[in-house]
Amino acid sequence: MSSDEKRAMGEDEQESLPPAPILVVDDREENLLAVRASLAAPDYRLVEARSGEEALKHLLQEGTFALVLLDVRMPGMDGFEVAHLMRRRARTRFVPIVFLSAEAIDLGSAYRGYEAGAIDYLIKPLDPMVLRAKVAAFVELYQQRELIRRQGERLARAEARNHELQLAAVQLEAERREKAALADAVKMRDEFLMLASHELNTPLTPLLASIQSLLFSARAGRFEPTHAVRSLELAQRQIRRLARLVSELLEVTRIEGGKLALSLTDVDLGEVAREVVEAHAEEGTRAGAPLHLEVRGSARGEWDRVRIEQIVTNLVTNAIKFGEHKPVDVIVEADGDVARVIVRDHGIGIGADHVGRIFDRFARAESSRHYAGLGLGLYIVRRLAEAHGGTVRVESAVGEGSTFTVELPARSARVDRGEETIASA
Ligand SMILES: Nc1ncnc2c1ncn2[C@@H]1O[C@H](COP(=O)(O)OP(=O)(O)OP(=O)(O)O)[C@@H](O)[C@H]1O
Ligand SMILES: [Mg+2]
Repeated sequence: MSSDEKRAMGEDEQESLPPAPILVVDDREENLLAVRASLAAPDYRLVEARSGEEALKHLLQEGTFALVLLDVRMPGMDGFEVAHLMRRRARTRFVPIVFLSAEAIDLGSAYRGYEAGAIDYLIKPLDPMVLRAKVAAFVELYQQRELIRRQGERLARAEARNHELQLAAVQLEAERREKAALADAVKMRDEFLMLASHELNTPLTPLLASIQSLLFSARAGRFEPTHAVRSLELAQRQIRRLARLVSELLEVTRIEGGKLALSLTDVDLGEVAREVVEAHAEEGTRAGAPLHLEVRGSARGEWDRVRIEQIVTNLVTNAIKFGEHKPVDVIVEADGDVARVIVRDHGIGIGADHVGRIFDRFARAESSRHYAGLGLGLYIVRRLAEAHGGTVRVESAVGEGSTFTVELPARSARVDRGEETIASA
């Protein structure tokens, strides 16, 4: 191989290639000496064996040789036998053999089927020039194969490393995302805690004020019934607000903990809607958002009555809160096996950028400065509807109002009569 070729094949490997190992097998010392003298070069490393058996031992130990120079006639195991055994072992099958023989060998008939060029012979006494030329040819082949093998190994190593790097990059990215999600969750929780504290605290000031004023008049012996009723009504409103917040928080805790138990009974959706509308009639009127109920047909089903009431209540209170002092329609209808409740307002509406997430936990489209709330109502609506095998959806346009529709199967496929626990999402 020319030095240019060697460079082309990879200078690093060429430099690091060790001397080519050559096994010389001959029972006669003078023959070994002759070979040793002819092949004394730094490119070769000679391993000598004085019998067929010893040759096999070296072949087993070393694994691979560039070439075996093999005396044919030896006491015990002769050269042909060694060659035969070498061809039967996978590790030595492809090691080229050059027989050293006193006469010509008919390789064509003796070694039919063996790889061409991997078997050859030299006539003794050996001509050093011929020996060197033949050995050089085999060694060059061997070194080329070695180079290719090493390059292959290097390539495989590089590929493995590349693969590892890619894997590490993917893992890193996953970790980064996880951390970001965690940070988001913590931020969300902190914001929620702030909001919740604020929301829970807000009713307390007017509640305390009305009680103080009642107490003050009672102590002073100036008890005025109209004043007392007003104070008590105010206190009642604030207590209801607090109770609603607390029950919302409890419900979310139950949903998240997978401990929401449904107790199913025969429920009339129209009746539930009527009760909710009546309970919120005053609140609606005060907010300039009178409630209109329309019940079309009998919409009954096997549901948890308290939860159905919660669903309708959350939608109605939202419609009043975000309804901009305009009437709110509540429609109940039966559609085959599906019962439907529709709550429609003509208020502020929801922007397209928010509409996708208002059913998520803590999601609020409006700032808490303008509208009180924890952002839990619609999440609870969705989870309760789903627990009944139903759905909730919204159609909305900013400035025009929103229409929320809840659909409930009369008998959900998942739940049978009795207690049922839903798993948290
Ligand atoms: N009828 C509606 N019109 C316009 N926006 C609405 C309406 N209902 C809900 N939204 C928007 O969806 C958000 C989430 O509603 P959700 O009922 O879950 O929370 P909330 O009313 O803010 O607080 P909570 O119900 O926990 O007291 C609201 O903050 C509001 O931005
Ligand atoms: Mg709400």
